[in-house]
Amino acid sequence: MKIKSLKGTNDILSPKINKWRHLEESARRIFECYGYQEIRTPIIEHTSLFKRSIGEETDIVQKEMFTFSDNANRSISLRPEETPSVARAYIEHNIDKQTGLAKFFYIGPMFRSERPQAGRYRQFHQFGAEAIGSYSPYLDAEIIALMDEIVKTLKLKNYEIQINSLGCGNDRHKYKKRLAKIAENKPRLISKLCVNCQRRIKNNPLRILDCKNPTCRELMDDFPTPFDCICEKCLNHYEKLKKILKQLKIPFKENRFLVRGLDYYTGTTFELTHTGLGAQNAICGGGRYDNLISSFGGPEMGACGFAFGIERLLLACESENIEFKINKAKTVYIAALDEPSYEMSFEILHHIRQTGIQAHMAYEIKSLKAQMRQANRLEAGYVIIIGENELKSKTFTVKDMAKHTQTSVDKKELLKLVAKQ
Ligand code: HAM
Repeated sequence: MKIKSLKGTNDILSPKINKWRHLEESARRIFECYGYQEIRTPIIEHTSLFKRSIGEETDIVQKEMFTFSDNANRSISLRPEETPSVARAYIEHNIDKQTGLAKFFYIGPMFRSERPQAGRYRQFHQFGAEAIGSYSPYLDAEIIALMDEIVKTLKLKNYEIQINSLGCGNDRHKYKKRLAKIAENKPRLISKLCVNCQRRIKNNPLRILDCKNPTCRELMDDFPTPFDCICEKCLNHYEKLKKILKQLKIPFKENRFLVRGLDYYTGTTFELTHTGLGAQNAICGGGRYDNLISSFGGPEMGACGFAFGIERLLLACESENIEFKINKAKTVYIAALDEPSYEMSFEILHHIRQTGIQAHMAYEIKSLKAQMRQANRLEAGYVIIIGENELKSKTFTVKDMAKHTQTSVDKKELLKLVAKQ
């Protein structure tokens, strides 16, 4: 029986992998330009790390984590996202004592056991940025500008940035009390919500705003949003952020329902959506998480970040027919005509590779025609033909595939010639 890949996971093969590399390399360049350093954290973590940060009431923790017990019966989970791991690493390595503001970026696979569909997978990939150590609205603006720069560099057009503010912990408390009052005074309205939302309204009311149930969604228009409970300090922060974004000419739309599906957010939240993606239209999401570091036992630290879904970013680029300029490596193909010349050919192949040039050869003797076909498939710039005559004369026939010319050179000249491609 053939073994197939797991549902919701994908193999990324050539030539598509070139697009992935292009996206990752261009993101890397931009992250570094904004002063972000790469961090690599483990794919597995203690389950409690995610439960405590993402929140027990969230879809991710309730239904989507790949969790298992290790040999010592510890509960381990594959990371559904990387923000909690970065926060853990920040505290574990005492980074707050080494630097004022720490700025990280990451690229890697994440795992969520969601129902697979276009743009939604069980193993997907993110690149993201996390900046820890400031409460300034300029940091929120930098993070949003960085997100915008990534899509602008790719020349993506049909996207929109939405922003909101959830307010601070106190505002959240006010919001919770306000909803509790509604629950008390309007039991008939509450009874129309789904069973989960009837529970959430008491212990985690923010989650009712991102419930997928159509009735709940409709009813939400009658409920206050966190923005209705925002304090003056948080409002000033939000107004300042808007002012900076306008100054930087980064267009945005305000969306009071943008609460994001993770519990750790405080203050600013944002999302970048694309019109070409259907239901899964969020390419990137993020926001502030000023309480996360202290909730893990670290110092009080303002923090802000985002993560792009690479698969969705690629789908968005494809929907706009964006061409990636992929630099083609110089390629040489060596065609050995018979068994005796194969040994010498293999040695030449080795020398060419040692000069840093991509070189190919067949592993069995094939007709020259078959080898030329293969050279064309590999888009080789030069084909070096080695047969009985070349062995005797120690000169090699070199075909320039673009110019359709042919020359005869010795080994020294050969290496110089292929390097010039
Ligand atoms: P998130 O909104 O859960 O945020 O995920 C960020 C992005 O990952 C989404 O906008 C989407 O493009 C992609 N994504 C999420 N789930 C899937 C999936 N099942 N299949 C394909 N793509 C997916 C976070 O992960 C936060 N850590 C962002 C953040 C960083 N907030 C602060 N810092």
